[in-house]
Amino acid sequence: MTMITCLWTAAVAALYCKISLAMDLDTSDATSICYDTALIQGGMLDYYEGTRYGGTVGMFQSPYYWWEAGEAFGGMIENWFLCQNDTYKSLISEALLYQAGTSYNFIPDNQTMVEGNDDQGIWGLTVMDAVERNLTDPTGDNVPGWLSMAQAVFNTIWARWDSANCGGGVRWQIFTWNSGYNYKNTISNACLFQLAARLGRYTGNDTYLEVADEVFTWLVDVGYVVLADTANVFDGADIADNCTDLTKLEWSYNHGVVLGGAAYMYNATNGTSEWETRVTQLLNGATTYFFKDGIMYEMACQDYKTCNNDQRSFKSIFSRMLGFTSVMAPFTADTINPLIKTSAEGAATTCNGGSDGHTCGLNWQASTHDGYYGLGEQMCALEVIQTLLIHDRPAPYKASNGGTSEGNANAGLDTLTTNVLKNELNIQQKDRAGAAIITAIVLVALTGGAIWMLF
Ligand SMILES: *[C@@H]1O[C@H](CO)[C@@H](O)[C@H](O)[C@H]1NC(C)=O
Ligand SMILES: *[C@@H]1O[C@H](CO)[C@@H](O)[C@H](O)[C@H]1NC(C)=O
Ligand SMILES: *[C@@H]1O[C@H](CO)[C@@H](O)[C@H](O)[C@H]1NC(C)=O
Ligand SMILES: *[C@@H]1O[C@H](CO)[C@@H](O)[C@H](O)[C@H]1NC(C)=O
Ligand SMILES: *[C@@H]1O[C@H](CO)[C@@H](O)[C@H](O)[C@H]1NC(C)=O
Ligand SMILES: *[C@@H]1O[C@H](CO)[C@@H](O)[C@H](O)[C@H]1NC(C)=O
Ligand SMILES: *[C@@H]1O[C@H](CO)[C@@H](O)[C@H](O)[C@H]1NC(C)=O
Repeated sequence: MTMITCLWTAAVAALYCKISLAMDLDTSDATSICYDTALIQGGMLDYYEGTRYGGTVGMFQSPYYWWEAGEAFGGMIENWFLCQNDTYKSLISEALLYQAGTSYNFIPDNQTMVEGNDDQGIWGLTVMDAVERNLTDPTGDNVPGWLSMAQAVFNTIWARWDSANCGGGVRWQIFTWNSGYNYKNTISNACLFQLAARLGRYTGNDTYLEVADEVFTWLVDVGYVVLADTANVFDGADIADNCTDLTKLEWSYNHGVVLGGAAYMYNATNGTSEWETRVTQLLNGATTYFFKDGIMYEMACQDYKTCNNDQRSFKSIFSRMLGFTSVMAPFTADTINPLIKTSAEGAATTCNGGSDGHTCGLNWQASTHDGYYGLGEQMCALEVIQTLLIHDRPAPYKASNGGTSEGNANAGLDTLTTNVLKNELNIQQKDRAGAAIITAIVLVALTGGAIWMLF
């Protein structure tokens, strides 16, 4: 659709016309979907550093944090697979490999000062996606397969399970000097839960499923996940009061990662009624809290116009998780598919901004670009639109039916004995103060925008 908007400006007595090339999306046509998502992905890559002179491979420009790059590449792997378009295949592989770090556990040296379990966990889900979509393993001497890297992420996060506080759970932060070390957040534990569920389904090794069960049980015990008919997923709590004083913010990415993990568990256990009930409840919550007028939205900040850079990307992984849920638990597809369709249509109507005429916006209810633009807006539109194709392509593979990535159940365990994971990194006091400040800023940014809603 080509729209010509004209504004009569009395002051200068002139007629200004703006031609905007809104996205023409045919939700039932793969060619149209992949054409649009190619444009949207191009907009994402405008923020990519890795192809610029002096830029770091696998990183998007400031102010986009390392974790968001992990989320972005998850969406790009899906696009490569769903659209069967190899254009960015090597860009994606190089980014994953480079940011895996020299120990291939997604604790690259540059991030050790500030990395949290959630950051590592999001990259872990992305590398698991590479496994399940059969992205060609990297080559080179002693370079492990994607599966081995996913196992390294699992093994290192699981090793940080902390039974001494709140009866279990991993903390938000990996390193003691970072503020947020005393907070146990949902997303860190949800990533661990989902990664375990996916590794269990993929490898057929029940140990992972047992861990997934334990993490999920804990999330429910502390009340981060409330399994009512319409389930809630809250943000987390501090260990000072044994995780009883909950931060009751509800973010789509927390809800999505828990729901997606439950759907993988449902599938991995061959459809037990226990997981069927949980998936149903969590899906009820997802459709109730994160859709308005049948279109996806970020409940805690969108209408208040307080979403920060991180929060503006949450609908991307949420979309991906709804798509996986509809595949892993086919009984949910009748509920999910129509919501993806209306949301994709809504998103496409907002991709008429910017100087290129196809920059996407934040508010998909707006029917036109709402003035917000950035990496998050592009990622969300990409993922919701490409998820339209999820049932046209094979389901995530398992080792037994198409996956070929090379694994190593013990990956990452050797790195546990290094200083880094014992939190004994010998860093100077000034660095430590710097890291604490950075984390404090992130914490304020994460909760600050929405915290007032609690009072
Ligand atoms: C494949 O991706 C590239 C880069 O986004 C795009 O230019 C091209 O049109 C895509 N091909 C198809 C068939 O969609
Ligand atoms: C770490 O940062 C340096 C300096 O910006 C950069 O040259 C290097 O490529 C980065 N490494 C990783 C793994 O991001
Ligand atoms: C702390 O919380 C956990 C999980 O809810 C519970 O099992 C444990 O008994 C609590 N400990 C104390 C001292 O209240
Ligand atoms: C699920 O079914 C498969 C194939 O029938 C079987 O190999 C596997 O053990 C079952 N898993 C569970 C958890 O029941
Ligand atoms: C697990 O997922 C596959 C792929 O979508 C599907 O064919 C199968 O029916 C699912 N299992 C159950 C128990 O629903
Ligand atoms: C997975 O990738 C391997 C090598 O990269 C290839 O031989 C195999 O056919 C692929 N499997 C599927 C199901 O595409
Ligand atoms: C299954 O996974 C566990 C946990 O990582 C591991 O210790 C064990 O060796 C694995 N078993 C097999 C047969 O790979």
